[in-house]
Amino acid sequence: MKKEWWKESVIYQIYPRSFMDSNGDGIGDLQGIISRLDYLKELGIDVVWLSPVYKSPNDDNGYDISDYQRIMSEFGTMEDWEELLDQMHKRGIKLIMDLVVNHSSDEHIWFAEARKSKDNPYRDYYIWREGQNGEEPNNWGSNFGGSAWELDKNTGEYYLHLFSKKQPDLNWENPKLRNEIYDMMTWWLEKGIDGFRMDVINFISKVDGLPNDKPKPGKKFASGSKYYRNRPRIHEYLQEMNEKALSNYDVMTVGEMPGVTPELARQYTGEDRNELNMVFQFEHVSLDNGPNGKWDFKPLDLRDLKTNLTKWQNELDEVGWNSLYFNNHDQPRSVSRFGNDSKYREKSAKMLATVLHMMKGTPYIYQGEEIGMTNVRFESIDDYKDIETLNFYKEALNDGWSKQEALESIYAKGRDNARTPMQWDSSEHGGFTEGTPWIKVNPNYKNINAAQALKDPDSVFYYYKKLIELRKQYDIIVYGKYNLILEDHPEVYVYTRSLGEQTLLILCNFYDGTPEVDIPAGFLESEHTVLIGNYEGLQGSGKISLRPYEAQVLLFK
Ligand code: NOJ
Repeated sequence: MKKEWWKESVIYQIYPRSFMDSNGDGIGDLQGIISRLDYLKELGIDVVWLSPVYKSPNDDNGYDISDYQRIMSEFGTMEDWEELLDQMHKRGIKLIMDLVVNHSSDEHIWFAEARKSKDNPYRDYYIWREGQNGEEPNNWGSNFGGSAWELDKNTGEYYLHLFSKKQPDLNWENPKLRNEIYDMMTWWLEKGIDGFRMDVINFISKVDGLPNDKPKPGKKFASGSKYYRNRPRIHEYLQEMNEKALSNYDVMTVGEMPGVTPELARQYTGEDRNELNMVFQFEHVSLDNGPNGKWDFKPLDLRDLKTNLTKWQNELDEVGWNSLYFNNHDQPRSVSRFGNDSKYREKSAKMLATVLHMMKGTPYIYQGEEIGMTNVRFESIDDYKDIETLNFYKEALNDGWSKQEALESIYAKGRDNARTPMQWDSSEHGGFTEGTPWIKVNPNYKNINAAQALKDPDSVFYYYKKLIELRKQYDIIVYGKYNLILEDHPEVYVYTRSLGEQTLLILCNFYDGTPEVDIPAGFLESEHTVLIGNYEGLQGSGKISLRPYEAQVLLFK
């Protein structure tokens, strides 16, 4: 397999609104990020993925962009951004920008023009249809609830919005629009950025005719996703984007792709395909969804996780590349979700990090994950800010859920779990701001914060730092072949990686029990070293007895 810098890198995601506020307005900003770059350097990450910092009315916290070439004023200026890039590069950290081009904001000049009249030159930058018998053009639902269509009273037609009505979908069928996007990308590439993370990029090609989909029983709106995910012209568009913008630069690309399969991922990321470097997929973070989707949550069955991650490891082996993550700005905190955020918080945070960072793929760390930040439980819905969460709450109450039931789903799955401010120290608001934070800080900041983690050599932070160092030291962690063992064991995740003469054995206990693990004969008798673990040494010989949330990585050569 071809060696590439982006396969050997560890990426750190910054959600700028919640990372660090430098000017006391309660909103994180670019100068705030600059002030924390030494912290990231200490952690050892290679690349920062910066969630959107462009001009935006913030209906969806920057994922609704009204000018792709300007910086959101709350975050600072273009000079601040240039300083950020420069300061990152001085520290050897690369920067990838979020590219949100499935949709723009309705406040983008293109849309302001488009809605003026049916013959406006920008009309065709968006997707317009006439209503059907006084109703929406089709029955697709928005990913944020309700219909995916909004009637524009002025022109009497509906426009498509797969997310909020302030996020109209761009019409990729239009070559003029596509070229504007490639030019805009080139403009950023010329500024020296190191790549793009592409928001729902596999949604950009819609099936001709936008057919109706079948709704779930009792529901008015259907998903529609089978008509807009991975659809006909997607590969053509990505290849064109690659040719016209990306191929001239040594940059990395990662495509956020809900609904992508390993087979499709091989097409999106295959070396000879000239599309993207890696996908960012969602199957493993959907395994705790019930039949009615994400809010209908159920506990994770570890065997499902093993089957799923193994499928991705095997099916992309040698012929594609994947992202490795449990956390991002759309997911609840993994230590609360898949680990134990009370007694074993640190142990389980380290275990989850181990299981992921020892796999093949590029690991992503989401701000705060490296100190084991947890989910939050705000008592009142008024403390929640996320549009998806607030829409869900309204709909759930309409559908007869009690307030408490709806809140329980939000506690388990809401995106604001990941968006409470970064906990820097034990001072007021966790050291995030001197003002009033735009969303409340998790009340546990007095115990869980970066300052405290930096003081403790045994902290989650230093464990992540070591995982990152190991990836740089051992090719086997990047390129070794994956093999699952103890497939049916309900409590432990055990796998190997192998490259040349070397083998890595990764042992992870996902629960607070003390399961005995039967390691295949011959293994432990041979010479080995422990590369990393969250307990001292191994317990037992032949049969190993794992302690609660134990993780160990053994190297045999
Ligand atoms: C995916 C992003 O990660 C999410 O935060 C956003 O709401 C949607 N795409 C729409 O842009």
